[in-house]
Amino acid sequence: MTKIELLPSILASSFAQLGSDVHAAIEGGGTALHVDVMDGHFVPNLTVGPPLVASLRKVVNVPLDCHLMIEDPDLFIPAFADAGANWISVHQEACANLDRTLHLISQHGCKPGVVVNPATPVELLTEVLDLVHHVLVMSVNPGFGGQKFIPNSLNKIAALARMRAERKLDFRIEVDGGIDLTTVADVVKAGAELLVVGTGVFGHGDIRTSAAKLLEAARNATLTRA
Ligand code: DX5
Ligand code: ZN
Repeated sequence: MTKIELLPSILASSFAQLGSDVHAAIEGGGTALHVDVMDGHFVPNLTVGPPLVASLRKVVNVPLDCHLMIEDPDLFIPAFADAGANWISVHQEACANLDRTLHLISQHGCKPGVVVNPATPVELLTEVLDLVHHVLVMSVNPGFGGQKFIPNSLNKIAALARMRAERKLDFRIEVDGGIDLTTVADVVKAGAELLVVGTGVFGHGDIRTSAAKLLEAARNATLTRA
């Protein structure tokens, strides 16, 4: 059975105490950290860049999963790799030459991922599924934390799981946006295994407890997965 992993999204953490927040999330069961990079063009928000990835790299050992919500990602992939990113994902919608961009990520020693927005069909990824380490299904429109989960994401996750089985591929299926105790079981049952959670981990109460509860709910859901 595929391993379910929780990826705390630092977007919802307190940047003034980032080190202690991420350590609490890892103690609660987080096995990689999700870093949301926004450029104010591809999405209407600004966040962080390679310097923050380099700072995180110094204080944690888990993989750093960099989700690039930016135009022209080829320009920045080398800097994220140098800063210590392990996984780098780019949006299908942002890449005119997606195959080239995914190879560029690999050439810089990182695991390549491709992301699809809610309105983008997963079938558009057919030609790159054998190149990627993970496919990230956005379950909210990218740009902000704390949004409501879009239910049709479940059909997209299930479709990807079918495509993976039919073609005997081994990419992992990641989901991002609106994952909490009310939605986590559904995404796991649909076939997602890398669960990105921001608000649900950092947004309320004790970080370690929130992470542990989400992971427990996710693992329980695998017991009833078809
Ligand atoms: C949204 C980001 C997400 C965000 C998820 O554009 O890609 O990673 O942090 O936040 P929550 O879990 O609050 O929906
Ligand atoms: Zn993200």
